[in-house]
Amino acid sequence: MEQLIDPFGRKIDYLRISVTDRCNYRCVYCMPLEGVPFKDMSEILTYEEIVLFAKAAYDLGVRKIKLTGGEPLVRKHIYRLIKMLKDIGYSDISLTTNGSLLKYYAQLLKESGLNRVTVSLDTLDKDKFRSVTRLGNLDDVMSGFDELDKAGFTNTKINSVIMRTYNIECIENLLNFAISRNYEIRFIEYMPTDFNENFKENFVSIDEIKSIIKNKHSLRQTSYKTNGPSQYCEIENTRVGFITPLSHNFCAFCNRIRLSSDGNLILCLGHDIKINFKDVLKQKDLLQIKELLKKSITKKPKQHQLLTTNIHQSFSNIGG
Ligand code: GTP
Ligand code: 5AD
Ligand code: SF4
Repeated sequence: MEQLIDPFGRKIDYLRISVTDRCNYRCVYCMPLEGVPFKDMSEILTYEEIVLFAKAAYDLGVRKIKLTGGEPLVRKHIYRLIKMLKDIGYSDISLTTNGSLLKYYAQLLKESGLNRVTVSLDTLDKDKFRSVTRLGNLDDVMSGFDELDKAGFTNTKINSVIMRTYNIECIENLLNFAISRNYEIRFIEYMPTDFNENFKENFVSIDEIKSIIKNKHSLRQTSYKTNGPSQYCEIENTRVGFITPLSHNFCAFCNRIRLSSDGNLILCLGHDIKINFKDVLKQKDLLQIKELLKKSITKKPKQHQLLTTNIHQSFSNIGG
């Protein structure tokens, strides 16, 4: 079978698809209070176009799909897309969400065949939650977790971005919540973009986060690995992941590409290089899409440049 191998010998088997750039939150690490200009709906890929891209990727060895946004659940009938992706043959499809709408959609998502859900949760304090998300309500997200459990989702994960002036004091509560619910929790280093502020003041390294955790818990090393970017430890029976894009970059093991909601292939989160697939997707010629994908992979950069430059797009555009 044909595979996507980049110039550095990395096998690309993980596709992250941003289904919309819209979001009902305005997280401080992602966008300014006034938001970022949303794309016109005419620029957004249709489900049929996304499926065509995913089919081309599947034929070239991609096996894992992550659905992101913006907030993926604000796009109508996302469960329809999940079913279509399942029909291609994908058996590892997960979704990363802010959790606000899970209370309505958890059951439908389960029925569509979605394998896993990751929820962004940076604090369990209602006021701090409001400060981080600006528009969010913690109760909605808590109901969302309940509905995920009820719908029968297992392997639910939590993503927490730790920022010094917002939630560094929330690490312990977040950990205890994850342990009590048997969810995997991952702590993520804050990344600099042109759309967030006070990066230097707010950056907290994973080494510092680990030392805070170690004040109260013994962190056991584990050999557990996934093909995502996280490194894992364990506390009791709970997996705790650490995502260190800045302090220990994981680019040497990068296995992923991103499709933006307006049909650009993004080869690296921390590089501006993008390749327009919209035109070729409009022509619906699978062979041509595969050829462009193979050609594009030859341009994948060796690593990000986040230590010297910001990401020039909002995460809502690229889906993290
Ligand atoms: P699962 O564990 O299977 O859910 O996959 P995952 O860890 O890839 O999923 P998730 O979307 O939860 O990714 C976690 C976060 O890691 C993202 O929101 C990004 O902030 C960060 N991340 C993921 N991939 C990259 C990458 O290639 N480069 C950088 N710098 N950060 C990344
Ligand atoms: N730094 C690190 N992670 C970020 N995310 C969004 N913006 C940033 C940033 N500046 C991540 C959050 C969220 C996911 C959708 O994207 O983890 O869970
Ligand atoms: Fe929305 Fe996610 Fe950005 Fe928060 S991080 S504003 S939830 S896209």
